[in-house]
Amino acid sequence: MSKVLVCFWTGSGNTQKMADAIVEGAKSAGAEVEVTMFDSITPEACNNYDVVAFGCPAMGAEVLEESLVEPFMTEYEGICSGKKLGLFGSYGWGDGQWMRDWVDRMNAAGANVITGEGLMANNEPDADALSECQSFGQALAKA
Ligand SMILES: Cc1cc2nc3c(=O)[nH]c(=O)nc-3n(C[C@H](O)[C@H](O)[C@H](O)COP(=O)(O)O)c2cc1C
Repeated sequence: MSKVLVCFWTGSGNTQKMADAIVEGAKSAGAEVEVTMFDSITPEACNNYDVVAFGCPAMGAEVLEESLVEPFMTEYEGICSGKKLGLFGSYGWGDGQWMRDWVDRMNAAGANVITGEGLMANNEPDADALSECQSFGQALAKA
């Protein structure tokens, strides 16, 4: 059974709703799933899982949340070579640049972003977006 970690940050709950649906999907596909937030785990501990899904909304001007998530990912970049990752998050008025940059960055660091691109939901995920999150969770479980 694959061990999946879902680790996220949220300001107003939208990325958390995505995380909840991703967890549901991964569990339904038979994975053992743990959920945490960026302030409750170290980058090193993420490597105890077969697959890690990181979630963070678009913040600042098309960047990750800067006080916690950005420094965490900078550290994780150094130890993520060969790891299977999923990336997800909610956004508002932008076009997803923060997510494209995040995917490129993790691939450049040697990780394997298993779905090829990040999963995005515009603001609060609607029923279609939640269904995509569940499918994303299933893909993580099977990666
Ligand atoms: C300080 C701040 C900066 C933001 N910057 C962006 C941005 O650069 N691009 C974008 O598309 N949305 C931006 N947003 C909108 C959020 O990404 C959007 O509201 C998202 O749904 C928040 O997710 P959350 O509920 O998980 O925090 C920003 C929101 C805040 C509060």
